[in-house]
Amino acid sequence: MDTKDCIQSRRSIRRYTGQPISKATIEQIVALAAYAPSWKNTQIARYTVITNRSLIEKIANECVLGFAHNAGILQGCTALAVESFNVKRSGYERDGSFSTSKGTHWESFDAGIAAQTFCLAAHEFGIGTCILGVFDDQKVAEVISLPSTQSVACLIPMGYPAENPTAPARKSVGELVRCLG
Ligand SMILES: Cc1cc2nc3c(=O)[nH]c(=O)nc-3n(C[C@H](O)[C@H](O)[C@H](O)COP(=O)(O)O)c2cc1C
Repeated sequence: MDTKDCIQSRRSIRRYTGQPISKATIEQIVALAAYAPSWKNTQIARYTVITNRSLIEKIANECVLGFAHNAGILQGCTALAVESFNVKRSGYERDGSFSTSKGTHWESFDAGIAAQTFCLAAHEFGIGTCILGVFDDQKVAEVISLPSTQSVACLIPMGYPAENPTAPARKSVGELVRCLG
């Protein structure tokens, strides 16, 4: 798969076959995701990968702010990657002050790039993912015993795809770009 195919054919996958994902495959995905760019190469993204059914069920049942749609995705996933990031590094000066007027923005920016890189890498290995943003970050942090120096960025349920959705419509290039010449 070349880069263009990988970007275009990746879909958010919400139904999974249940076929186990090997530890070696997960490690290869994380190794590729490590090549995501980051603020001053701070590499703040971290991944807690969960295959334990009762832990995934707990997150599905107690940590999605009552959003049944996301609970269903999590209940059916084969593995759950909780992406987190080390706080107060990206976008900060050494003295702890913000580097720019955008404040904490760069932490989420780095986490987002890392999440997409992770999902593209997973796609290369035939594994479907879906970035989830509707969840209770404090509860997830508690359930997975996340170190207090980290914050949860997103949930990424994973699994071999049991669906092949068509791409939701995209805006035209004309709507997306302004060429100033
Ligand atoms: C930051 C972010 C949060 C998202 N949150 C959810 C979510 O909570 N539940 C869900 O089913 N999909 C979620 N998605 C997936 C989007 O709905 C999906 O990317 C979009 O519809 C485009 O489809 P595609 O990924 O197949 O191209 C999220 C995606 C992003 C980037």
